Amino acid sequence: MLRVHELTRRFGRLTALDAVSFEVAEATIHGLIGPNGSGKTTFFNLATGFLAPNGGRVFWEGGDITGLPPHAISRLGIARTFQNTSNFANLTLRENLVMAARNRVRTGALARMLHLRPARDEEAEHGRIAEAILERFGMAGLADTVAADLPGGTQKILGVAIALATAPRLLMLDEPLAGLNPAEKVQLMEILRGIREEGLTLLLIEHDMKAIMQACDRITVLSYGTLLAEGTPAEISRDPATIKAYLGTEAA
Ligand SMILES: Nc1ncnc2c1ncn2[C@@H]1O[C@H](COP(=O)(O)OP(=O)(O)OP(=O)(O)O)[C@@H](O)[C@H]1O
Ligand SMILES: [Mg+2]
Repeated sequence: MLRVHELTRRFGRLTALDAVSFEVAEATIHGLIGPNGSGKTTFFNLATGFLAPNGGRVFWEGGDITGLPPHAISRLGIARTFQNTSNFANLTLRENLVMAARNRVRTGALARMLHLRPARDEEAEHGRIAEAILERFGMAGLADTVAADLPGGTQKILGVAIALATAPRLLMLDEPLAGLNPAEKVQLMEILRGIREEGLTLLLIEHDMKAIMQACDRITVLSYGTLLAEGTPAEISRDPATIKAYLGTEAA
């Protein structure tokens, strides 16, 4: 579905991503892991048009999307969140989601998933999408709360909800569990698994190894900008290079 070929990005003398190639298969949860500074966020920025690569290509459904601007890539059905919380702080949750729904891909999987019939009244349809997502994320009671008034963890979950409201086919999440309490982590992972069951594809950057190992179908490991290993959670958890570079230090 999303495939990168020898993707490379340099910042001055530092090669943040060095000829990395891998593919994310449709309707999977794919993990992207690696120590701090290994190039994970840089990969997201390259794949979603926020940064231009110095070399290599990005393919979406076989088509070359390298160098397209972020809004064009988002129209193709790729949504992402940022490592830091991002929302319209002065808008309510419902307003945030309606804004996102306005940018949705018209033939998105989400409308089908929620069994929404094509509506003449677009505004009403956006409202229904917002309500359905609030419901799904257990935030119905917070619809009229201003985003800035939410606790940090809830704002983080809202970021995922906003990305989902654009009805993407691929959802790329940069450390969605960071800053969540244990209950929120369990809740969000359950939501993500439900989304995958309905045919969406997820690419997940995450340092929480337990969550990654439980949720992912496949995992790609980066280290110093290079691809260190790729495989199932079972394969990755016994991969010597990964254990040395990452698991040994972070999750020992
Ligand atoms: N805009 C930039 N300018 C200069 N250097 C950058 C820039 N963005 C990233 N880097 C550097 O590139 C390397 C990879 O950074 P990146 O943010 O992709 O890592 P990461 O794997 O997401 O790390 P973390 O787990 O800490 O979020 C780091 O050494 C970082 O300092
Ligand atoms: Mg990062």
